[in-house]
Amino acid sequence: MKIINIAIDGPSGAGKSSLAKKVAKTLGYIYVDTGALYRSIGYYVRNKGISLEEVNKTIDLLPEIKLDLCYDNGVQKVMLNGEDVSSYIRTPDISMYASAVSAIPEVRTFLLDIQRNIAKTKSVVMDGRDIATVVLPDADVKIYLTADPKKRAERRYEELIGKGVETTLEEVYNDMTLRDKNDSTREVAPAIKAEDAILLDNTLFTEEDTLKRAIEIINEQVK
Ligand code: DC
Repeated sequence: MKIINIAIDGPSGAGKSSLAKKVAKTLGYIYVDTGALYRSIGYYVRNKGISLEEVNKTIDLLPEIKLDLCYDNGVQKVMLNGEDVSSYIRTPDISMYASAVSAIPEVRTFLLDIQRNIAKTKSVVMDGRDIATVVLPDADVKIYLTADPKKRAERRYEELIGKGVETTLEEVYNDMTLRDKNDSTREVAPAIKAEDAILLDNTLFTEEDTLKRAIEIINEQVK
């Protein structure tokens, strides 16, 4: 069977992971959440007491880090040196660490093969920031998912509150816009829309509308 790779990029809070999960389920593909890899490195670095600015110390830690993605009933687990850290890496603090480490070229190179190797052997729906531009430039389908920043902050706020994280909408909005700025202006693999990616703005869409539109795009692109 032909291997199909679908790339979904876009800023935080656009709903990439919900969409990518549903598309993967609909098509029977593997969902790959690449943000979890950057988050795991951020988590490791933070636990070592290293600050966001200590780039060289972060680079020195890379040889001690072994990351693997594994799948349990279609659900991705990220293993950091053999430990499942999936449930520890979703906090606002780790989001900031992930964004900071993701600007370090050595970190990006370190994670490139893990991402590419999965896509070589399996049909995947991979979400991230540079999937269409760097990781899988030959992906069969490239979608750039975005929404109005206020709407994205509201969605992220609801998600965090639902998980019991104490925060305010203003804090979420400020963190999110700072992270978007860092991610889209970094020198290596900035988070931008690939020229050949299809823009999907879901500001006024429900999750169902977004899935329907994404499946239409995929059916148009994969013949
Ligand atoms: O998608 P996320 O919020 O879990 O990603 C966390 C951070 O990781 C995000 O701020 C930028 C970075 N990231 C990246 O640079 N490239 C990717 N492919 C995925 C995430």
